Amino acid sequence: MEHSFTEAEVKEIQKHVAKYPDRNSAIMPALWIAQEKFGWLSAETIKLVADTLDVSYARVYGVASFYTMYLKQNCPPNLIEVCTCFSCGECGGKERMTFLKEYLHTNEQGHSADGKFWIREAECLGACDTAPVGQVSNRRFVHNLTDEKLREVIEKLRAGETLSFESIPLTDQTQIDG
Ligand code: FES
Repeated sequence: MEHSFTEAEVKEIQKHVAKYPDRNSAIMPALWIAQEKFGWLSAETIKLVADTLDVSYARVYGVASFYTMYLKQNCPPNLIEVCTCFSCGECGGKERMTFLKEYLHTNEQGHSADGKFWIREAECLGACDTAPVGQVSNRRFVHNLTDEKLREVIEKLRAGETLSFESIPLTDQTQIDG
């Protein structure tokens, strides 16, 4: 894949730039557009974002490295995060992580043996009333997480089934399960 943005993507990024008095404010949405396109944020991609926004590489790298939702490594395609913070930690988040590790036979980096999944603990996802909470590939939440729900999500993804949430924009997230 050619390492560049399409005209439509540049237009989309410029729309974000136009919203703010300072173009640095458009770094986050521009990084998101880049990650959606390339899958993760390599040094080359970060430079592309910086050049497109006409801001420094250091600025863009600083934002990308601060937020965990921006992926700085080329990881397996399906990311499953489980909140183990405060409420979720008390309500089974840690046990759900243990289940995932065993079910997916993950290595030290949290990558599954089949190379399709990546797991990690998350800080508070802001949905503490439905603890424990999980998040799939930086998008949809799974509330009141159980091992059964995790198994269902994994098997659907493993079967290549498109989960409905994948087409929902980040700004319009809804629940996968009640
Ligand atoms: S503690 Fe898990 S969502 Fe807040």
